[in-house]
Amino acid sequence: MANTGPVVKVPFLDLGAQVRSIRGEIDEAIAKVLDSTQFVLGDEVAAFEREFARAHGAAHGVAVNSGTSALHLALLAAGVGPGDEVITVPNTFVATVAAILYTGARPTYVDVDPVTFNLDPSRLEAAIGPRTKAILPVHLYGQPADMEPIVEIGRRRGLIVIEDAAQAHLARYRGKSVGTFGDLACFSFYPGKNLGAYGEGGMVLTSDEGHARKIRMLRDWGQDRKYHHLLAGYNYRMEGMQGAILRVKLRHLERWTEQRRAHAARYAELLAGAGVGIPIEAAANRHVWHVYAVRTENRESVMKALAEQGVQTGIHYPVNVHLQPAYADPRFGEGSFPHAERAAAEVMSLPMYPEMTEDHLQAVSRALRAIPRR
Ligand SMILES: Cc1ncc(COP(=O)(O)O)c(C=O)c1O
Repeated sequence: MANTGPVVKVPFLDLGAQVRSIRGEIDEAIAKVLDSTQFVLGDEVAAFEREFARAHGAAHGVAVNSGTSALHLALLAAGVGPGDEVITVPNTFVATVAAILYTGARPTYVDVDPVTFNLDPSRLEAAIGPRTKAILPVHLYGQPADMEPIVEIGRRRGLIVIEDAAQAHLARYRGKSVGTFGDLACFSFYPGKNLGAYGEGGMVLTSDEGHARKIRMLRDWGQDRKYHHLLAGYNYRMEGMQGAILRVKLRHLERWTEQRRAHAARYAELLAGAGVGIPIEAAANRHVWHVYAVRTENRESVMKALAEQGVQTGIHYPVNVHLQPAYADPRFGEGSFPHAERAAAEVMSLPMYPEMTEDHLQAVSRALRAIPRR
């Protein structure tokens, strides 16, 4: 081994470190909810909706119980249903596609840019058909999709644009926050996300008052007031405890995002020449590095060697959605989306969380460099 410093174990994520850093504020927030007994929706959730929307420059925020529910209700509010098609990307978490199917619509796909891994706008028009109703780009890993051409095509072709911003809290494109480009945008607060609840959570942002009103009803059994059901809705309400916790965490999110960005910049320095493809931030973007994915052709052996040196890694995602048995579609076999499929075969996510230290970053790079040249 080239460099034999002390072994530093690097977990893929360390949620405990973050809890410890804000424990006092969290205890106070939870106590407030216990005192108020507003366990479902309530004042804390309403305040969190306003604060999260303001942080992104959006007019309305509607909090729900997961990112998946946010996608489902955004699609319903947009009028997507049976007989419609929604265009998305193959290299996303399955929830993006599952939410389309929940509405009765059919997902279809566009291949991605091989550098950013995001929807390639130059391929978008060819995928639009007579049944296409909406475009659902994903800001994968926290890097905004190329929204200007996507929105332009959407407007010109009369399509709704919904952003899957589940991984991209506070990311920016051409100086504006994600969540403000599409007609609607969906966020996840799953614990490992850049802004994570201590349970499940999600939010839809929109500038359209009508969409916001409809989603507010749909998340709470379609009621406009208690026991008056205008729409056939769902139980997708955010819990009061999660709203209170997320309000506390939102106050720290800008600092945590800057820490992620600093770690990504340091990784790029430390990993130069280490034999892996280093991710880049597109010029128009403020990337928020939910995932730091490098590329390597012999991923399994690299991951194993890193694990042996105490470095945990992940894969986001090993199989494209169109090749998952549950979401198979005879229109899309292997080879349909070469860039997305190649990414699925080569990407490997390194540890990335705000509380990482210089020792952690160096340990990861040392472990990678110690692997014989690939
Ligand atoms: C891109 C993407 N879309 C949707 C979701 C669904 O969010 P949730 O897990 O909160 O339902 C996630 C996260 O899990 C995601 O990463």
